[in-house]
Amino acid sequence: MLVIKNLKKSFNSGTENEINIFNGFDLEVKDSEFVAILGSNGCGKSTLFNLISGSVKDNGGDIILGDTNIGKLKEEQRALKIGKVHQDPSKGVSPSLTILENLSLAAKKSEKFSLKNLIKKQAIGRFTEILKELDLGLENKLNTQVKFLSGGQRQALSLIMATLKKPELLLLDEHTAALDPKTSAMIMNKTKKLIDKQKITAMMISHNLRDAVKYADRIIMLDKGNIILDVKSSEITEKELSNIYISKMGKDERVAC
Ligand SMILES: Nc1ncnc2c1ncn2[C@@H]1O[C@H](COP(=O)(O)OP(=O)(O)O)[C@@H](O)[C@H]1O
Ligand SMILES: [Mg+2]
Repeated sequence: MLVIKNLKKSFNSGTENEINIFNGFDLEVKDSEFVAILGSNGCGKSTLFNLISGSVKDNGGDIILGDTNIGKLKEEQRALKIGKVHQDPSKGVSPSLTILENLSLAAKKSEKFSLKNLIKKQAIGRFTEILKELDLGLENKLNTQVKFLSGGQRQALSLIMATLKKPELLLLDEHTAALDPKTSAMIMNKTKKLIDKQKITAMMISHNLRDAVKYADRIIMLDKGNIILDVKSSEITEKELSNIYISKMGKDERVAC
């Protein structure tokens, strides 16, 4: 379970450019829940993820994952518990390393390593099985450098790497936004399968209302650092969600944020 209590964050504090993003933000996400986070650009969605993963430091509040107050941990320590997939297909992978090397690093991310020693036969068998399930033929490209893969293949690999060791929390930040519609649908399908199979607790930032309704268990809309909608996806249609979205943030995004 993730519990966020009284989270505070401002950027450029004390200057004329001060932006107050969160001022006492609360959120609870149950174990195995899949939550979609919606909200217009600049509302603080990515900042929320960065505060959880520790790449941005908060100005107060608690972030509790399981029985640990991770708000007190360094980013590297949080990375052992949290898997993250970004919008940019090259961010979650090391492009100059092969698929096998990337997977080996992901499998051993909590240990000191030497790459050569990591790549054991046993591991290769396991990686091959996992990649086969993706059904993208990546199991035949284990020794291909990741820079030669398509955006969709890289995002699929990023997903596998982020979930190779079951994370206590998976953060997906618009991870299909840079892909064409067909590839995006394929990656969303794979995402849902991976999450369901391992019963992963997940949060997904998306602008795709259809995906939110179709794949998530719960939908949250953010505005000015506040939750303005929090519903089960089974209790709302895409059309209703779209109407709420337009009425809250339609005309001028700067007004909404
Ligand atoms: N590191 C940073 N330094 C200064 N301002 C930032 C930083 N990160 C985000 N912001 C600002 O915080 C606001 C929220 O950004 P972000 O969380 O990226 O929004 P979203 O993901 O909802 O589009 C924006 O106004 C953005 O410019
Ligand atoms: Mg963002």
